[in-house]
Order: sequence, then structure tokens, then C-alpha cells
Amino acid sequence: MTSAPPVRDGYASIHGRRLFWKIFGEPGPAGTLLTLHGGPGATHDYLLPLADLAARGYRVVFYDQVGCGRSERTPSNAEYTVERDVADLEALRQELGLGPVHLLGSSYGGMLAIAYALEHPASLRTLIVASGLASVPLTVAEMHRLKRELPESIRSTLERHEAKGEFEDPEYLAAVQEFYRRHLCRLSPWPPEFQYSLDSMSLPKYGTMNGPNEFTITGTTRDWDQTPRLPEIRLPTLITVGRYDEVTPVVAESIHRGIRGSELVLFEQSSHVPFWEERARYMDVVERFLRAHA
Ligand code: ALA
Repeated sequence: MTSAPPVRDGYASIHGRRLFWKIFGEPGPAGTLLTLHGGPGATHDYLLPLADLAARGYRVVFYDQVGCGRSERTPSNAEYTVERDVADLEALRQELGLGPVHLLGSSYGGMLAIAYALEHPASLRTLIVASGLASVPLTVAEMHRLKRELPESIRSTLERHEAKGEFEDPEYLAAVQEFYRRHLCRLSPWPPEFQYSLDSMSLPKYGTMNGPNEFTITGTTRDWDQTPRLPEIRLPTLITVGRYDEVTPVVAESIHRGIRGSELVLFEQSSHVPFWEERARYMDVVERFLRAHA
């Protein structure tokens, strides 16, 4: 029996705010996998299956982005920006002495990983975009298509309340849940860590940058689109996506086309969190990719 990899956690002071981090495993030749949660505004907890990679020789690092989970809030919501998250990520990587890392970003974390790769390519060994996006407008158009494909009763409930701006109506929230069960996580029940990240969503950050729910992106990121700059990324890149993902395979393909030599892997039984929905295969795919680019 192998012993469980050691776990450490703590806080780092980054641009004047305390950010919570958690590390599984020791530094070794395989390197460090640094992970970025989505939301924007969720917490690292729903990414914890990726700690499985610590048993395969990787040091795996999680943190809660500023304003999220156990990390400190900012005094003003105007401070919640992609640029701030990029700067914090670079400062945290240096503060923890991680060296060049393998970077995995999930959902908004994938968008953040792309923004970071464009600014700090020398800090990265590889890039993994996990159900991430390079274009919010394309993602929203795709989410609207998924909404149109919902059963008629759910679709009409969503539309009726959206027309009146009733984003908190219990009937509306129940219909949103139907979308989430199909396109966010298809396991039943939802894993506790996933539920926790959703329940702990930072409303100041999510409301500022995203909007009232996953498919109503009216926040400050609504026009964000780095698709034209993707060819500047020259890192070994893996893109993963679920067949039923709310950030759809069309979005994943747009990133795959933009980053030369990138690899795209589709998880047939999954939606937005294949590292839960097809956990063992997910770890095999990531490990194989990382070893190929050791
Ligand atoms: N709101 C989506 C996420 O980050 C894009 O989960």
C-alpha cells in the first residue's frame, strides 16, 4: 500500500489580500500542476479530484482566487477583473516558489489560464484548458442553443421569468437546476465538494464578472474574446470537454483550432466536470499528456 501524499495548506499575502492555498504531494521531476477554479467566484473544492495526480508523482496546487472561498474579499467589486486574477496568479506562483508549472484551468479558470499563458508563457511548462473558453460571446451563443434544446416546459419557464428579470423566483431557479443537471454535472447526487463550491459561490465576484447564472452572462466579462490571439500560444496544450458540457465542444474546438499542435479530448459521458463524471479516465488522459511533454 502506498501512503497518501502529504497535504499542506495556508495563506499567502498577494497584492494586499490573504489567499488560501492547498498543496498535495512533494516537488519532483514530474513537476507541479497548478489548478484554477471557475465561476468566476467558485472555490477550489470542486477541483479536488485532481489531487489524484499526486499519487502519480505530481505536486498538485489549489487556491481560492481573490474574493472566493477562504480567500479575502476586495473592498470594491470593481477590483474583480481577469487582469487582477492574472496578476494574483503570477504573484502566488512566485510566493509559493513553484517554478514553471503545468497549469490547468477549469471553466472560467480555463479562460484565466489562456489570459495568463498570453502574458507569462515562460512561467508555464504546459497548459490544460478544462471545459474552458476563449470567447464569452461564443460560449453564450452555445448556451442559448442548449437552452433551446431543453424540454419545452423548462425552456418556457426560463424565458417567462427572464423576460421579467425574475432571476430569484423559485420556479425559475428550479428550471435553472434542470439545465445544470444536464450541462454542469450529470452525477446524482452531486459530489459534496462540487455542491460546496456552488453553494459558496462569491456573489460579489460572480455577480460582477459573470451574472445571475451560468447562461446569463451580463457581467463585466460578457465581451471577453481572446480567440484572435490564440495562435500566439506556443505551449503544449490539452483541451478537455464533456459531450454535454455547458461550455460546449464547439467552444473547445475553437480553442483547438487556435492553438497550433493542441490536443482535444472529448469525454462522452460528461458535462462540465469530467474529472468527477469520468474521474479515472480523466486522470489517465492528463497523466498521459503530461508525460508526453515531460
Ligand atoms: N461560469 C462558467 C464557469 O466558470 C463559465 O463555471
